[in-house]
Amino acid sequence: MLVVERLSHTFRNGNEYTSVLQDIDFHIKKGEIVALLGSSGSGKSTLLNLMAGLMKPTEGSIRIAGKAIETMNENKLAEFRRVHIGFIFQSYELIPHLTVRENIELPLVFQGISSKVRKDRALELLQQVGISGKSELFPSQLSGGQQQRVSIARSLITMPTVVFADEPTGNLDTKTETEIIDLLIGLNEQFGLTFVIVTHEHEVAKRTQRILQLKDGYLIDGNSKAGDED
Ligand SMILES: Nc1ncnc2c1ncn2[C@@H]1O[C@H](COP(=O)(O)OP(=O)(O)O)[C@@H](O)[C@H]1O
Ligand SMILES: [Mg+2]
Repeated sequence: MLVVERLSHTFRNGNEYTSVLQDIDFHIKKGEIVALLGSSGSGKSTLLNLMAGLMKPTEGSIRIAGKAIETMNENKLAEFRRVHIGFIFQSYELIPHLTVRENIELPLVFQGISSKVRKDRALELLQQVGISGKSELFPSQLSGGQQQRVSIARSLITMPTVVFADEPTGNLDTKTETEIIDLLIGLNEQFGLTFVIVTHEHEVAKRTQRILQLKDGYLIDGNSKAGDED
């Protein structure tokens, strides 16, 4: 479903080259929930951004649903991302002047879907993420954990093939962190949704089905079942 092959990435700023990912290979099956674990600077966000089609790798290939995304032109890639990819940010990235429901509907607004269908789907998702009473509030009226629930709902409204989350609990306290990971695991189990969750915390990673561990740009462990160690 998601296949990464011989992936390397080097950033270039003028004459300065920073080699960030080295010859990475792995695949993720439909319905898996996988953690991408590594300390700060190990290349997690770079790998996630490459898989989400936000930038192109300097070498190697990323296939999602059978399509090599690094070969697509900008328009094709934008369309592919709209259909196949959901993204959850550490800092939620909600639009402050839109209500919770409008934020969740936003990915569908540019797809010619009727407002009735958008609204129904947004309200259904709000219920699934556990904040059904909050639809007409603004993001600033919610706690961090509630805002992240909105951002999770927004990432799911297009029914994407895979959802990428970059440190989704990085701004939350431990109790809320547990609740958000519970929610992602529940959505994975209930609907077979595929998640790749970036984290630097082993406590978070070990709750998923499998850990991909990055160290200094190398994948050092791609097969450990979460919970094996300790
Ligand atoms: N645009 C960029 N230009 C140059 N170096 C970058 C750029 N983005 C990230 N890096 C470097 O790549 C390395 C990995 O960064 P990142 O993928 O953000 O790691 P992580 O998410 O694991 O903390 C770091 O050394 C970082 O400084
Ligand atoms: Mg990062």
